[in-house]
Amino acid sequence: MITGITGQDGAYLAQLLLSKGYEVHGLARRSSSSDVNLSRLRWLGIEKDVRIVDGNLLDLSGLIRTVTAVKPDELYNLAAQSFVASSWQQPLLTGQVTALGVTNVLEAIRLVKPDTRFYQASSSEMYGLVQQPVQSETTPFYPRSPYAVAKLYGHWITVNYRESFGLHASSGILFNHESPLRGIEFVTRKVSDSVARIKLGLAKELRLGNTSAQRDWGHAKDYVRAMWLMLQQDTPDDYVVATGRTSTVRTMCEIAFSHVGLNIEDHLVIDEALFRPAEVEILLGDPSKAKSKLGWETSVTMEDLIREMVDADLARYRKH
Ligand SMILES: NC(=O)c1ccc[n+]([C@@H]2O[C@H](COP(=O)([O-])OP(=O)(O)OC[C@H]3O[C@@H](n4cnc5c(N)ncnc54)[C@H](OP(=O)(O)O)[C@@H]3O)[C@@H](O)[C@H]2O)c1
Repeated sequence: MITGITGQDGAYLAQLLLSKGYEVHGLARRSSSSDVNLSRLRWLGIEKDVRIVDGNLLDLSGLIRTVTAVKPDELYNLAAQSFVASSWQQPLLTGQVTALGVTNVLEAIRLVKPDTRFYQASSSEMYGLVQQPVQSETTPFYPRSPYAVAKLYGHWITVNYRESFGLHASSGILFNHESPLRGIEFVTRKVSDSVARIKLGLAKELRLGNTSAQRDWGHAKDYVRAMWLMLQQDTPDDYVVATGRTSTVRTMCEIAFSHVGLNIEDHLVIDEALFRPAEVEILLGDPSKAKSKLGWETSVTMEDLIREMVDADLARYRKH
């Protein structure tokens, strides 16, 4: 069972699990315009292969009924209000979904099927104002947004349910991971989408905030493999999943522009209104534990990832 199956990671994880012969159930919210947004699952050609259950992380009764009906062997909790910028605009909702929502899912498991293996989607944003130059499982956290504070609650409640009730609950502290299925509001996809539109004459500029911020970027399809590996271990644990390499937003933009033969200087506009109220200047993860204990490795470089995203956005616009 996957919460957040309509999101980027949910789609790639569903694809991975289906390829391994799993029966995949996904919790999804209905919307008045499209019932359930299956566009990412459709992009991967698997929308008919998953079973969608109507639900919301805020509704414990629905979660209890769903866990009772599905009886999941593994439950991946990927649902969240996942966008840092929105978390300043909607701090309370972010806390309710991204923090307390985790407890709802854990309670449903604990009450109905405590042998379910549980994965919590924790985030490198929890390191925020970094306390060590390279962040590992033992680095102290210092969250810098309502999103990061909510994720920190989700992380610790997962650890607590593991230690208090013996649940097989693991938390993956994932650094940024992207793909052609990344939400359009996130910086890498905003860049790949804008570069594609500029190349095709549909736009002129790319407007960004702090381009000196540094992030450790990997490919989502590698990162969902790490989630699955965590639930195959005899003992639940917490793992940092990262590439171990960091780059500035500007470098990432340069790769995107040069891929289509454009000059960044002609199109990039820095907009102070897009800066975060409290910036996370640098994130750089140490994936040694995931490498040694899970045998996990990243397989896509940041350069190839960004080029793949630009190509996918070019193809999307050329199709329309
Ligand atoms: N991608 C990253 O770099 C990264 C890094 C670290 C951690 N994470 C975390 O990993 C998870 C997956 O990331 P992602 O990039 O796949 O995020 P995403 O594309 O934004 O997907 C978020 C998912 O959560 C669902 N959702 C939101 N509110 C919900 C609610 N109240 N009840 C039920 N479902 C709800 C969304 O459904 P709708 O389609 O209906 O909106 C969507 O399916 C998230 O928890 C994210 O915070 C991501």
